[in-house]
Amino acid sequence: MSNSIWRKKPLEAYAADVKNNQLKRVLGKWALTSLGIGAVIGGGIFTLTGIAAHDWAGPALALAFVMAGVACTFAALCYAEFASILPVEGSAYAYSYGTVGEFFAWFIGWNLILEYMMGATTVAVAWSGYFEKLLHLFSINLPLYLTNDPITAAEKAEKLRAAGQVVPDFSFAFNLPAFLIVWIVTYVLVKGIKEAASTNNLIVILKVAAVIFVIVVGAFYIDTANWSPFIPEPVADKTGTIHYGFNGVVTAASIIFFAYIGFDAVSTQAGEAINPTKDIPFAIIASLLICTLLYILVSLVLTGMVRYDTLDLKAPVASAFDGAGLPIAMYIVTIAATAGLTSVMLVMMLAQTRIFLGMAKDGLLPKGLFGTIHPKFKTPWKSTIFVGAIVSVVAALTPIDKVSEMCSSGTLLAFAMICGAVWLLRVREPNIERPYKAPFLPVVATCGILCNLYLMWGLRTETKISFLIWGTLGVVVYFAYSRHNSNLNKKEE
Ligand code: ALA
Repeated sequence: MSNSIWRKKPLEAYAADVKNNQLKRVLGKWALTSLGIGAVIGGGIFTLTGIAAHDWAGPALALAFVMAGVACTFAALCYAEFASILPVEGSAYAYSYGTVGEFFAWFIGWNLILEYMMGATTVAVAWSGYFEKLLHLFSINLPLYLTNDPITAAEKAEKLRAAGQVVPDFSFAFNLPAFLIVWIVTYVLVKGIKEAASTNNLIVILKVAAVIFVIVVGAFYIDTANWSPFIPEPVADKTGTIHYGFNGVVTAASIIFFAYIGFDAVSTQAGEAINPTKDIPFAIIASLLICTLLYILVSLVLTGMVRYDTLDLKAPVASAFDGAGLPIAMYIVTIAATAGLTSVMLVMMLAQTRIFLGMAKDGLLPKGLFGTIHPKFKTPWKSTIFVGAIVSVVAALTPIDKVSEMCSSGTLLAFAMICGAVWLLRVREPNIERPYKAPFLPVVATCGILCNLYLMWGLRTETKISFLIWGTLGVVVYFAYSRHNSNLNKKEE
């Protein structure tokens, strides 16, 4: 076992981590649930619903939300069991290192990079869309080439020209608002999270209120004719890809799966939970169920208010109210969404740097870059700036659907792996104390693995190829660097 890729971090090491916890235990189960909801509601519901309904599912967007919600529920139940066994920060990576083994943990950590970094990138692009809308409300209009990545800017310019509008030529495009917001969030994270925490709570209240507002007010403007046909007839595009029909709904589910990502971020707060073994599992499941209900209602309202093929792609929820002749509602939604997206970015980038920190402490990533803590701010500042640099540049240059699908692919695989790992652990170590046990485990774990892999299959071919390249790169880095530098390897020598 000495040099095995399945070597495990001893469980006593985790117990020591928990004992040495320096953080204040102040978060109860509802505070944790609110953190979960804060991390979940963002670009998925406020922006990707536009693409998912317009291009893939039509009014069956609600069905896509049910499908993705079911896949997430299986994963959440397994996640909750894992979190109750090892109430430590570091999320799925840390759980699997102590239970399944190093390589498995590394590969989950590698996929969590897609979840959190590409997640933050997607939300930055979504933020830019809402910010642009906000500026527009105050009659400020930025040029196309400063609010879009090069591909999206070229497509839009072509469409506008085809519609007879004059669009000045440009040779370069850069999503400046997305780039700048990432640096603002990076600055806050380097200086310390405490300052941001109370603002974050306010933002969560604001955005949940906005979502409820959308449901309640929007319900009065539903035209049921817009729901018919509920699943539009399948259509093949130039490349042979099928849109609409059942396949389209599955693709939409894979896209809006992004909207659910973040409930697992609750587990990174284990050090601040009053009763982590019970409250973290509760918060994971509660935040997911609440968001699923809100999402299904919003998608029914949205596709009922506006015909799916006329939905706006950048700020669909706010635009739906504009179309319904409710400018005040549009202002409210735009402001709440712009603020709400900022908090998701904050949580995603925070989680990414903490996972890097955990991996660096274990020796799997270079400590100099990922494990250095700032002497005054007590934050992993180099790693935070590194994450900020990558997220800002990718957000400025890449279309939202490409980054969001990369994020979803990494998360879907990580969720499937978690379901498998929890099951494996039940078989291997049946007697470990489990304050929370996922019900009907073999069934739940099997369904979790199959549903998450099925949704992964629903992603576009180009996303699957990019993901394969990413996964291969992860394996190469593990064998070239992490395996030799692992603390466990050093102990064995
Ligand atoms: N679920 C988060 C969002 O939709 C990532 O923004």
